[in-house]
Amino acid sequence: MWIDDFKPYFANEYLIKFVTQDWERQQMRALRQAVFCEEQGIFAGDDRDDIDNIATPIVAIACLAGTPDRVVGTVRIHEEKPGVWWGSRLAVDQDYRKQGSLGAALIKLAVTSAHAQGCNTFLAQVQARNQLLFRRLHWRSLKEIEVHGRSHYLMQADLDWYPPYADGAIGFVATSRIAA
Ligand SMILES: CC(C)(COP(=O)(O)OP(=O)(O)OC[C@H]1O[C@@H](n2cnc3c(N)ncnc32)[C@H](O)[C@@H]1OP(=O)(O)O)[C@@H](O)C(=O)NCCC(=O)NCCS
Repeated sequence: MWIDDFKPYFANEYLIKFVTQDWERQQMRALRQAVFCEEQGIFAGDDRDDIDNIATPIVAIACLAGTPDRVVGTVRIHEEKPGVWWGSRLAVDQDYRKQGSLGAALIKLAVTSAHAQGCNTFLAQVQARNQLLFRRLHWRSLKEIEVHGRSHYLMQADLDWYPPYADGAIGFVATSRIAA
């Protein structure tokens, strides 16, 4: 049938920014729930914790005709003690994985914006299956750990690859490598 000739539409422009709007926050929460509760089954019903009270949430928003349309990725950052920052709850909508480098773009804003706020050590507990992704993005493994009963690596970003970026609320535009 002729309609089978059409590929599904994917945005090819994404805005990576701090959450500043209510709709961004609502969709960010829905995405985290879909990934960490329903898909991965790590949490039952709600993945929110005390860190959400102090963390800065970051989103990747798919744009339609240059207009922000839908949250398709997220991560959050927080400062544990002076200079020491953590990233967590990295998630990209299943339909948008491995096509827009969205995970990499979210990690980039997470680390560069923390760097601009005085971060000297940026850490994350990375699921073992994502270790290679982070290593490619200039992170090193410090040790193997178990989190929520699953194998993880404590990893640290090489800040030389993440120069300070102070405009997190404005963010930056990332472009998909795959044409829509
Ligand atoms: C992990 C996750 C955020 C990656 O998002 P993504 O948008 O697919 O990642 P990117 O497209 O930015 O990946 C960058 C590169 O790493 C590759 N990559 C992606 N996931 C990878 C993995 N798990 N292992 C190795 N390489 C990976 C991509 O193919 C791409 O490589 P390329 O540049 O050579 O094409 C996404 O798979 C996800 O949401 N997973 C479920 C939740 C989760 O596991 N969160 C992380 C907890 S640590």
